[in-house]
Amino acid sequence: MIQFLLNQELRSEHALDPNLTVLNYLREHLGKSGTKEGCASGDCGACTVVVGELHTDAQGAEQIRYRSLNSCLTFVSSLHGKQLISVEDLKHQGQLHSVQQAMVECHGSQCGFCTPGFVMSLFALQKNSDAPDSQKAHEALAGNLCRCTGYRPILAAAEQACCNKPADQFDSRQAETIARLKAIAPTQTAELNSGDKRCLVPLTVADLADLYDAYPQARLLAGGTDLALEVTQFHRTLPVMIYVGNIEEMKRIESFDDRLEIGAATALSDCYSALHHEYPDFGELLHRFASLQIRNQGTLGGNIGNASPIGDSPPLLIALGAQIVLCKGETRRTLALEDYFIDYRVTARQDSEFIEKIIVPKGHTLFRAYKVSKRLDDDISAVCAAFNLKLDNGVISQARIAFGGMAATPKRAKSCEAMLVGATWNAATVEKACAALAEDFTPLSDFRASKEYRLLSAQNLLRKYFIELQTPHIETRVTAYV
Ligand SMILES: Cc1cc2nc3c(=O)[nH]c(=O)nc-3n(C[C@H](O)[C@H](O)[C@H](O)COP(=O)(O)OP(=O)(O)OC[C@H]3O[C@@H](n4cnc5c(N)ncnc54)[C@H](O)[C@@H]3O)c2cc1C
Ligand code: FES
Ligand code: FES
Repeated sequence: MIQFLLNQELRSEHALDPNLTVLNYLREHLGKSGTKEGCASGDCGACTVVVGELHTDAQGAEQIRYRSLNSCLTFVSSLHGKQLISVEDLKHQGQLHSVQQAMVECHGSQCGFCTPGFVMSLFALQKNSDAPDSQKAHEALAGNLCRCTGYRPILAAAEQACCNKPADQFDSRQAETIARLKAIAPTQTAELNSGDKRCLVPLTVADLADLYDAYPQARLLAGGTDLALEVTQFHRTLPVMIYVGNIEEMKRIESFDDRLEIGAATALSDCYSALHHEYPDFGELLHRFASLQIRNQGTLGGNIGNASPIGDSPPLLIALGAQIVLCKGETRRTLALEDYFIDYRVTARQDSEFIEKIIVPKGHTLFRAYKVSKRLDDDISAVCAAFNLKLDNGVISQARIAFGGMAATPKRAKSCEAMLVGATWNAATVEKACAALAEDFTPLSDFRASKEYRLLSAQNLLRKYFIELQTPHIETRVTAYV
């Protein structure tokens, strides 16, 4: 059984199909059709809902953290122990919520189909910001598509809603909701099943290891932003899933003198501050990773676990020399991330083995990363590049360079690195290293970019890196598009 609050109503679900998304649960099981399906693939934001979770802030105070998610990619089992808020819950005692009122007054609602998603993103923005901030408003809305180009009034509504932030029913009931969430806080592994389909929801790494041993055929479910597509886009059935998102040990970020240790189930949004602090370019990249909804649910472990050749974090982590800790039963092994990716979607992971954490070394000052995609926000890379050199008196003593989108796996550019090490860091060396990149990669052409474009981009990104290091005041990173 799983338990969660549907706004204020306690729901105890025994026999739901674990392949059911929150979107279909709301619409088909509860008849709440305010939440819309636009794409069922995480691209449009029409299905945005807000999920509240217990959270202890830096001062030790208990709070509820509200986050926007795409309900089309969220399986119901991941609601266990949380609060689900849909657009129907905002109007209170006959009054529109202040974010809805702002949409009305600023003429932000047009076709009506995507409006509920915008409203929910604005609601999450209002809950998470104290002052109007256009950058935060853009970030909050980047995952909501308006095809009639009505963004200007919607951004005006965002500003109004964050300026004028009267206490709402969620604020006045906060203490009660915290008490109710504590009362349903999971204490042991939960299970949601229907027929022969099941989703197990463990609370500890040890329980996960035991369950994965018992069900080696299970699919691990983290944020589901990749896995759920198998159901919503390819109409497959996932008979057994193990949800890792309730395992607190796998959601921790620990900072040591020489490294960060990031639990594999840490949401990408939660990775932001630690990685941005060490490596501003990593933070920059995370800003351009999908949308806020996807970053709120997608995890760093899932970005590695899906072994996509165009995943954004692997090239950066490989260039930084990151390692992963793999766990199977009571056995753990540490592996360089670059050795994890063997071939297209083939990894070094054994049966019943899972990624427990990611170890990111600290202290690489010449690290830079670049993402080339057609749109700035909410788009997958055509090419993603990460450069990490060490210079001693102008001579390159170490080089780690990795790319995504250039091969069947995220991959180091070994010939390019070999050309650089021992050479003087100047324009002539960079040109030789650019030529070597052609030996490292024979990229494919697809709808994102041609093979010629990919290779030329990779070479130009190396040139760009050189220019940026020569003139560090130049900030050209985010302007690279196809
Ligand atoms: C609209 C949209 C935009 C996107 N944009 C980007 C983008 O810009 N850049 C990018 O890189 N990706 C992007 N993605 C892909 C996806 O969001 C990311 O790869 C995300 O990090 C996956 O994490 P998750 O937690 O949702 O993984 P899930 O979907 O839960 O899992 C993905 C895979 O990893 C496995 N897995 C999960 N956790 C573990 C673990 N601990 N150990 C071993 N295996 C594990 C799962 O079994 C599954 O096979 C996008 C996806 C969508 C839908
Ligand atoms: S329906 Fe488009 S993001 Fe969910
Ligand atoms: S408001 Fe729906 S397409 Fe613009």
